[in-house]
Amino acid sequence: MKNMILAANWKLNKSPEQTRAFFATFLEILKNNASAYSQLGKQYQVAFFPSATSLEATSTSLRGTPVQFGVQNIYHESQGAFTGENSARVVKELGGHYILIGHSERRQYFHETNSSLNKKVHHALQEQLAPMYCIGETLEEREKGQTEKVLLTQITEGLKDVNPLLAGSLVIAYEPVWAIGTGKVATPDQVKETHAFVQTALVKLGFTSTPILYGGSAKASNAGELIQIPHVSGFLVGGASLEPQSFLDLIQASLS
Ligand code: PGA
Repeated sequence: MKNMILAANWKLNKSPEQTRAFFATFLEILKNNASAYSQLGKQYQVAFFPSATSLEATSTSLRGTPVQFGVQNIYHESQGAFTGENSARVVKELGGHYILIGHSERRQYFHETNSSLNKKVHHALQEQLAPMYCIGETLEEREKGQTEKVLLTQITEGLKDVNPLLAGSLVIAYEPVWAIGTGKVATPDQVKETHAFVQTALVKLGFTSTPILYGGSAKASNAGELIQIPHVSGFLVGGASLEPQSFLDLIQASLS
């Protein structure tokens, strides 16, 4: 079995109370699955990205377990007069491990650019957190044959001046924008071709062992097939991570 990361992006869902209820059920079922639980944290990682206001409830619920978590966005400074932003340092203090950076919804609705995301990648690494940097093309870009150009720009600009030797914790999440929340998963051939392209681009920049996750309508029914594809190191999951059982089913499908 590959070394995998299975990550849940909860977006703007779940109050602290709903978060605690989710983890009570999730951890109970997971602990009852002795083989899946014993491999967790060794053979594969599971990570949650709750909304910032549910971060502390997540931290408390997951304390003492091998399940990891992080925030969906940070600012590139850890403190100061930056109203409304999230601090990487606080994430670390709460026991978080990952920072999601450049999700397509951040790029689309909050106008985040490759250069502003590059600052966040640098800052996350500086704070000793693991950046999970998201890339992906829109449907229009794919139809115009621009997928590779778009991904290459997102990679080179987003990772500009990042030293691969100091970025061992970096993770890339490839999420075709047209597959996010639409139920339209990329075909195995599209995933195979695009992950191979991303892998080659990363290796050229010196990132030889950076995991590349797939995201976009990933669920239990397609995870088993997609995880077999070379350079697919796991999934970033939205909709299918909101219920304990559907996320656990995806984990199980990826493991088997
Ligand atoms: P989805 O979302 O699984 O609901 O398509 C994935 C994501 O936005 O990260």
